[in-house]
Amino acid sequence: MTGTINSAHESKADLPAYPAARAAGCPFDPPPTLYDLQKQGPLAKVRLMDGSTPWIVTRYAEQRAVLADPRVSSDVTRPGFPMEAQVMGRSGSGESAAGPAPSDTERGPAGLSFILMDDPEHARLRRMVTAPFAIKRIEAIRPAVQVIVDDLIDTMLAGPKPTDLVEAFALPLPSLVICRLLGVPYADHDFFQENSRTIIRRSATREERGAALKRLLDYLDNLVGEKLDNPADDLLSGLTERIRTGELTPQGAAQMGVLLLIAGHETTANMIALGTLALLEHPDQLAILRDSDDPKVISGAVEELLRYLHITHNGRRRVALEDIEVAGQTIRAGEGIIVANDIGNRDPEAFPGDPDQLDLHRDARHHVAFGFGVHQCLGQPLARMELQVVYRTLYKRVPTLRLATDLEKIPFKHDGSVYGVYELPITW
Ligand code: HEM
Repeated sequence: MTGTINSAHESKADLPAYPAARAAGCPFDPPPTLYDLQKQGPLAKVRLMDGSTPWIVTRYAEQRAVLADPRVSSDVTRPGFPMEAQVMGRSGSGESAAGPAPSDTERGPAGLSFILMDDPEHARLRRMVTAPFAIKRIEAIRPAVQVIVDDLIDTMLAGPKPTDLVEAFALPLPSLVICRLLGVPYADHDFFQENSRTIIRRSATREERGAALKRLLDYLDNLVGEKLDNPADDLLSGLTERIRTGELTPQGAAQMGVLLLIAGHETTANMIALGTLALLEHPDQLAILRDSDDPKVISGAVEELLRYLHITHNGRRRVALEDIEVAGQTIRAGEGIIVANDIGNRDPEAFPGDPDQLDLHRDARHHVAFGFGVHQCLGQPLARMELQVVYRTLYKRVPTLRLATDLEKIPFKHDGSVYGVYELPITW
């Protein structure tokens, strides 16, 4: 590694603040501070809003090594865990790539959020929902997702313009897909969508969010009860088997449903809206998608957009359980670690050529936009399939799609734990 860690900084107050701001006019690039830190070496120290000073891992190879290391923990309740600003002050909880994390009491015995747990409990719970996300099962619902995408585009085109792509298309799609996967009856879609939206709405108060979460949990709890009596071919019905064997409570099954909803909703929605904006800003790249029907080109484009945009921009958060050597430096037991995968996805060692260019023909499959190691995104086959359907359909069906405002006026989610745009006014 090059030089001493943060050698230019003498005191804690001088350490770079994290998260750092993006450069003006560069909404798709990680903050300049992260480029600087990556140039200096794979490991540095940063200062969080609560004054703590965890390690930050900035280079791709070291990031994968840390995320695959069983001596690091995802348990937010451990002392030293580097908390995200949005949830500082909330006891025993954190916020992750996959959305807001529940409090200890919300977690319950069956564990709402295995994303914030370590093995073996994490693995035990994750295994219960692995099968529905297997590639074969996800491919089986591709035609149904195509119908949802086409219907949403039909409705959008029949409505007034300009319109907001986030409201009209990007948010409803993942919500409708997760409804299908879980087995939420069609008649309840509106209720389900309305409450999911409240949970992720910027203007919602904590009380409103809590009430919406409770309504969804109660609803899913009820639905699990119905599936126990009348199982169908869906994820919640699959979980009823675990209830029968005593591995899971009905409440645990409902909590798992909410976790999947939260983890898969805003992430996919942001990739749709921010991806569309990035493509509109790179018309030569947009043309590749509009002009191709080759599934390989489409799936390659999805991987490159995931790499380039890296929406889970606040880093994978961990705490060391033992002393760990990383790039010749010892991270002590109990010290916090932030794995900044957004800058890892721009590491020239891992992505030769110009990693700051959006290049849909690049082989970007080894990106870390879904994380790495045991917590690597469970829903990635679903996210990939949804994005492939969207990216191969939207720009062909709406070839004149364009921004209805200036780039400078677009409200970016700098403050969100998942990056994207709050609104995307478009016309055609
Ligand atoms: C483009 C969309 C998505 C992105 C960028 C994304 C990103 C991520 C990342 C980075 C992690 C790792 C968290 C960590 O290591 O701490 C993760 C975990 C997870 N994601 Fe996703 N995700 C997406 C879509 C989805 C979808 C559609 C679902 C399911 C419906 C989902 C379910 C999960 C779950 C359950 C975990 C926790 C896995 C575990 O802890 O074992 N995600 N996601």
